[in-house]
Amino acid sequence: MTRSIAIDGPAGAGKSTIAKGIAKKKGFIYVDTGAMYRAMGLYYKERGIAADDTEKIEAALEDIHVTISYENGEQIVLLNGENVNSKIRTPEIGNMASGVSTNKAVREKMVSLQKEIARTRSVVMDGRDIGTVVLPDALVKIFLTASVDVRTERRYEELKAKGMECDKAKLREEIIERDYRDTHRENSPLKKADDAVEVDTTELNAEQVIEKILDIAGSKGL
Ligand code: DC
Repeated sequence: MTRSIAIDGPAGAGKSTIAKGIAKKKGFIYVDTGAMYRAMGLYYKERGIAADDTEKIEAALEDIHVTISYENGEQIVLLNGENVNSKIRTPEIGNMASGVSTNKAVREKMVSLQKEIARTRSVVMDGRDIGTVVLPDALVKIFLTASVDVRTERRYEELKAKGMECDKAKLREEIIERDYRDTHRENSPLKKADDAVEVDTTELNAEQVIEKILDIAGSKGL
């Protein structure tokens, strides 16, 4: 049993904001696993390799090195040594990440990296399969949800704050599509672990969600 906290849920449920806030309060490190799949997606996108081209995806795997480091408490994702943080936050790369993450070999590579990161440290790790596959022994498992409309609104505001204007209706469709792909894929689909606590964030702000999860953690002795 590790002293780690696993947070899973669909796109836009607030995972990264919440996980970051909890990591700060607990003094744990925050690991955003979606960013690692996004870096993989970026690699393939830049080379014109389609998300469903299994042969090319797997042939390139040994040439891809994704690592994470921290600068002023912020996670930096390095793709073959290059800081790709500013390149991976677009809806396009999110969709590409969702596509390539259905590949079994891609998942195995990422999961072993994530397990290694958490082996010697207490982490708050967020993603889709953290409570079910990456950290099945995590002391605290949270499944974060929110309505599609609220998740669309949050993603829209997040992108707008970064200067990326986008069509809200299209964003909503992409979120629904991504939910479908992430929950229906054959390998480690997004699903609530049996021992995870579901927290619906539709009506709550970030502080309220963080408080709620800290209470849950406290009740488990964390
Ligand atoms: O959390 P995010 O939007 O940055 O994730 C991008 C995609 O990566 C997501 O649609 C599915 C995939 N992903 C995954 O399969 N497993 C994870 N643990 C995290 C992300």
